[in-house]
Amino acid sequence: MDSMGSRNDSAGADDGAGRPGNGRGAAPGEPPDPAGGTGPAGRSAARHGTSRPPGRHHSEVTLRVNGTPRTLTVDHRSVLLDVLRERLDLVGAKKGCDHGQCGSCTVLVDGRRVNSCLLPAVALDGCDITTVEGLADGGAPHPLQQAFLDRDAFQCGYCTPGQLCSAVGAVAEAEAGHPSLVTDPGAPSGRPVPLGPDEIRERLSGNLCRCGAYPNIVRAVEDVIR
Ligand code: FES
Ligand code: FES
Repeated sequence: MDSMGSRNDSAGADDGAGRPGNGRGAAPGEPPDPAGGTGPAGRSAARHGTSRPPGRHHSEVTLRVNGTPRTLTVDHRSVLLDVLRERLDLVGAKKGCDHGQCGSCTVLVDGRRVNSCLLPAVALDGCDITTVEGLADGGAPHPLQQAFLDRDAFQCGYCTPGQLCSAVGAVAEAEAGHPSLVTDPGAPSGRPVPLGPDEIRERLSGNLCRCGAYPNIVRAVEDVIR
C-alpha cells in the first residue's frame, strides 16, 4: 500500500539528465530550463543512462535517500518533494497544498521533519533524507506503520505518509527534550518530554487530515510510545 510506504528505493546514481528544457515537456513541478535543455529528449537520455553536464541553473547534488546515495543534477528551483516524486520515483510523500500548510509532504532531513514542498533540493547536498518508503526495516513495518494499521488511523491514506514521518520526528524531538507549545514551562530543560494526547495533538498539528482520522492517529502514536 503506497500510503504505508511499500515502494522500494532503487539503488544507484541518477545522472540527472532528465531535467526539462525549452518550456515544453517539463516534468510536473519542475520549471522549464531557461538555459535550453532537451526536454523530452533529456528525459529519454536519463532513461537510457546518458549524462549531460549541469547547466547555468542546475547543480549536481548527492542526496542520501533512505540510505542510498543518489547523485543527480537538479534545477535550482526544484524542491525536494518534486525531486523525490518526479526524479526518484518515491511517491510516498504527497503534494497537498504545495505551500507548507498541510504537512502531506513531510519527510525527515538529517532526522528532522520538514515540509519537502518548501525545500530547494540544491540546498540539501550531502543530507540524509528519509521518506515513508524508508521507515520500514526490511520487510518489517516501522512500529508506527504497524500502529497505524492496528488502529485504522487513516481513511483515504493521502495524509498518512506525512503523518508517519511527522510522528517519527515528533517522538524524536520529545525524547531529545524539545518543548512544544503545550509543554509545562516548569518541565526540566533538556529532559525527555512525556507525550500525552495533548502533546501528540500539538506536535502533529501541522499535519492535516481531510478525513478526520485524528483520534486514531493520536492513539496509534500513544501505542508506540508506551
Ligand atoms: S504539500 Fe507541503 S505542506 Fe502541503
Ligand atoms: S486519511 Fe484521508 S486525508 Fe488523512
